[in-house]
Amino acid sequence: MWCPEGLDEVEAELLGPAEELKGKEVLEIGAGAAQCSRWLAAQGARPVALDLSHRQLQHALRIGGSFPLVCADAGALPFADASFDLACSAYGALPFVADPRLVLGELRRVLRPGGRFVFSVTHPVRWAFPDEPGPEGLSVSASYFDRTPYVEQGEDGQAVYVEHHRTLGDRVRDIVASGFRLVDLVEPEWPSWNTSEWGGWSPLRGNLIPGTAVFVCERD
Ligand SMILES: C[S@@+](CC[C@H](N)C(=O)[O-])C[C@H]1O[C@@H](n2cnc3c(N)ncnc32)[C@H](O)[C@@H]1O
Repeated sequence: MWCPEGLDEVEAELLGPAEELKGKEVLEIGAGAAQCSRWLAAQGARPVALDLSHRQLQHALRIGGSFPLVCADAGALPFADASFDLACSAYGALPFVADPRLVLGELRRVLRPGGRFVFSVTHPVRWAFPDEPGPEGLSVSASYFDRTPYVEQGEDGQAVYVEHHRTLGDRVRDIVASGFRLVDLVEPEWPSWNTSEWGGWSPLRGNLIPGTAVFVCERD
């Protein structure tokens, strides 16, 4: 599943046709509980699920799967050059790093020539709107161009959650500057079957403004 809209890889085939995934070495970054890697393994691919959070990987371990889990920073990948055929991420790592080019550069390094990296993030336009599922989430309340990160602090003043905004143009420039070709930019529409509300996600907002951007990149 790429996003809260419900676009799944069976339907989208952004990594290529499912029958061609068999035997492919795939790196998932910001894997969380490794849902995508679990699906990839079921298709016969050979995924590696990487996340910075040990806790997330413990969930992955508990749910199970016969693929490696790696605790590491996506900006310093512990793999040799040209180790993977494909890479993917559903809302993982990239929205949370100050320097996305570091991550993209690392992905380019570990992918084989022609390899794809497909990643989804919150659609940049959402930055300008309050993260509310109701009508209050439909009025612009901040500048789309303000790149000041969103930070939540703990009682001791330490940052406990940080999200970094990049405009659509920033993302395209980051991708191209890191040695990738942008093959597609998918903006999934809210499907009529999806009636769920979750955080700022809702059918009301989903029918009016994009919620997710999925970037399909190929290593030159
Ligand atoms: C919103 S969750 C997405 C998890 C999963 N892909 C999913 O679809 O449920 C973001 C994940 O990115 C991970 N993450 C954040 N910064 C990272 C980094 N620099 N390197 C690797 N993982 C990171 C977090 O630990 C978290 O598990």
